[in-house]
Amino acid sequence: MILAALSDYPGISLIETPNGYKIRDDSNNMEMTLSLDNYERIISENKRHQLSRILKSNRLQILDCTGGFARDAAILASLGNHITLVEQNPLVMALLINAKKNIKSNNLKLIFNRITTQLGNCIDFIRRTSKKFDYIYFDFMFNSNKSSLPSKKEQFLRKIVKNDISKNLDILRETLQRVSSRIIIKEHISSNDYKNFDIINTYKGKTVKYHLLKGKNGR
Ligand SMILES: C[S@@+](CC[C@H](N)C(=O)[O-])C[C@H]1O[C@@H](n2cnc3c(N)ncnc32)[C@H](O)[C@@H]1O
Repeated sequence: MILAALSDYPGISLIETPNGYKIRDDSNNMEMTLSLDNYERIISENKRHQLSRILKSNRLQILDCTGGFARDAAILASLGNHITLVEQNPLVMALLINAKKNIKSNNLKLIFNRITTQLGNCIDFIRRTSKKFDYIYFDFMFNSNKSSLPSKKEQFLRKIVKNDISKNLDILRETLQRVSSRIIIKEHISSNDYKNFDIINTYKGKTVKYHLLKGKNGR
């Protein structure tokens, strides 16, 4: 059953199937069903992940400002932390919430129970929340398509998510002024979009790097 042919996204439709929502792009005949059970493998390697090196402890309260398909949130939650995931794109959020309902693995169900979701712009959430987060995480879309063989998930995100680097930088500047949390920004290994910020440390992987910063407010 077609749930929605989405006027904001020409050629894209959301279809209900027995395995959950399927997103379809008519322009290149591509379809995708988000299965969070597929995250089992990356989660099994969580202790070796760069994010584990950065966090150092668990039971942290983490705000994931750019939730997307929650791969990073799943890694952070699998390390024993509580995540508030904010995502502003309604289509991405619809896929994510539906995929969460369809998780089969008990282990992943427990992990996703530690992730609560909020639809909206993360800066609006940061402005109105009184909750204190240990870490605030940002993973804006990379500027250009740097991966030669992008996954279906990345291809769909590129298609449906608008990215504006100057707005992202404004969000980061405002967040740094508003909070005292530690802030993590993920970036492609060969980009330098955040070089003007006060970066405490950068943790490098093969294709991405994670910058650690500290909010400037006493709150
Ligand atoms: C590169 S994806 C994040 C991928 C995610 N880290 C993962 O592991 O699946 C970026 C996501 O952030 C969302 N986003 C971008 N700016 C945002 C904002 N200001 N507030 C909330 N979500 C935002 C986009 O809609 C997109 O889904």
